[in-house]
Amino acid sequence: MLKSNGENILENKNQPKTAILSIVNLTKKYGTRVAVDNISLNIFPGQIMGFLGANGAGKSTTIKMLTGLAKMTSGNVYICGKSIKTSFEQAIKNVGAMIETPVFYSYLSGYNNLKFFAKLSGNVDNQRIQEVATLVGLSNRIKDKVANYSLGMKQRLGVAQALLNHPKLLILDEPTNGLDANGIREFRMMLKQLAYKEGISILISSHILSEMENLCDMIAIIDKGKIIQVKTMDEIKHSCLSAGSQYIKCNAPNFSGKLITQNFGVPVKIQGEKVFFTVKDKRLLPQMIVMLTQKKVLVYAAGEVDYSLEDVFLNIINKNHNTSIS
Ligand SMILES: Nc1ncnc2c1ncn2[C@@H]1O[C@H](COP(=O)(O)OP(=O)(O)O)[C@@H](O)[C@H]1O
Ligand SMILES: [Mg+2]
Repeated sequence: MLKSNGENILENKNQPKTAILSIVNLTKKYGTRVAVDNISLNIFPGQIMGFLGANGAGKSTTIKMLTGLAKMTSGNVYICGKSIKTSFEQAIKNVGAMIETPVFYSYLSGYNNLKFFAKLSGNVDNQRIQEVATLVGLSNRIKDKVANYSLGMKQRLGVAQALLNHPKLLILDEPTNGLDANGIREFRMMLKQLAYKEGISILISSHILSEMENLCDMIAIIDKGKIIQVKTMDEIKHSCLSAGSQYIKCNAPNFSGKLITQNFGVPVKIQGEKVFFTVKDKRLLPQMIVMLTQKKVLVYAAGEVDYSLEDVFLNIINKNHNTSIS
């Protein structure tokens, strides 16, 4: 719902805060190919939103439109209530962005690179340069040449650059691409502290769900240009459990499977020594074990199937592919 002055009013009256970022029916077509298909999404103050999708799903195209690097075909984007169509400068001054791998002058130090960008953007003083270097954990290497930086350090410098102007919203496009597990963890910790210390909202894209674990409050899943789910990280983790079923590992899986179906009325699947099934009432599992033991089956193990976050992501995407008409 929009006021005539272009300000975005939230339709949900229960929502206490105004969105920092509001994407409304955003579409991007390249010729006849629809790269981003009518997506809508809100990010609220202090929220860290993960933007998750396979390669080619439309993440970078969306982010380029949010930051004015690509022209939208239709729809609108509001940043702190200002439309990037009608009030681009007022909207974009609230945004710091790092899109793909940031480019720096490798013969200059990290500090002088930041100084260069600070000059470009105007009112950023030397104190802020030191401040952002500290925020991203680069203060003791900031006088070194960028040529001697690791990939992780370059990514941090990119974030430092994006922070120069005290943005309310930080947009990062696949910032952990190419980092090793340790680098990813450190980068994640840095972002969390940043969101906390600077009180900013973050939109961060990735094609790997587990990279967003312990970082994002919410996850928006984009597939073939459409947002197919927006969930809290807790909901996603919960669906790890409920998507999956239980199993019993034993010496007679076929026999046990038949008994379970006969006595508990649930369909089963046999794989190796394991019988898989789904029961909502967890108390049925020990009852099954007692029954099987009474029938002289040797039960080796039993429990919940431990689906990984990646399994859950792939399940959501695959379901979407099976239900979409195209
Ligand atoms: N400049 C462009 N011209 C034509 N098609 C493009 C262009 N940029 C991206 N695309 C297409 O748009 C789709 C989404 O790409 P992109 O946003 O880069 O995906 P992601 O960042 O999720 O990997 C892909 O099919 C891609 O080939
Ligand atoms: Mg991309």
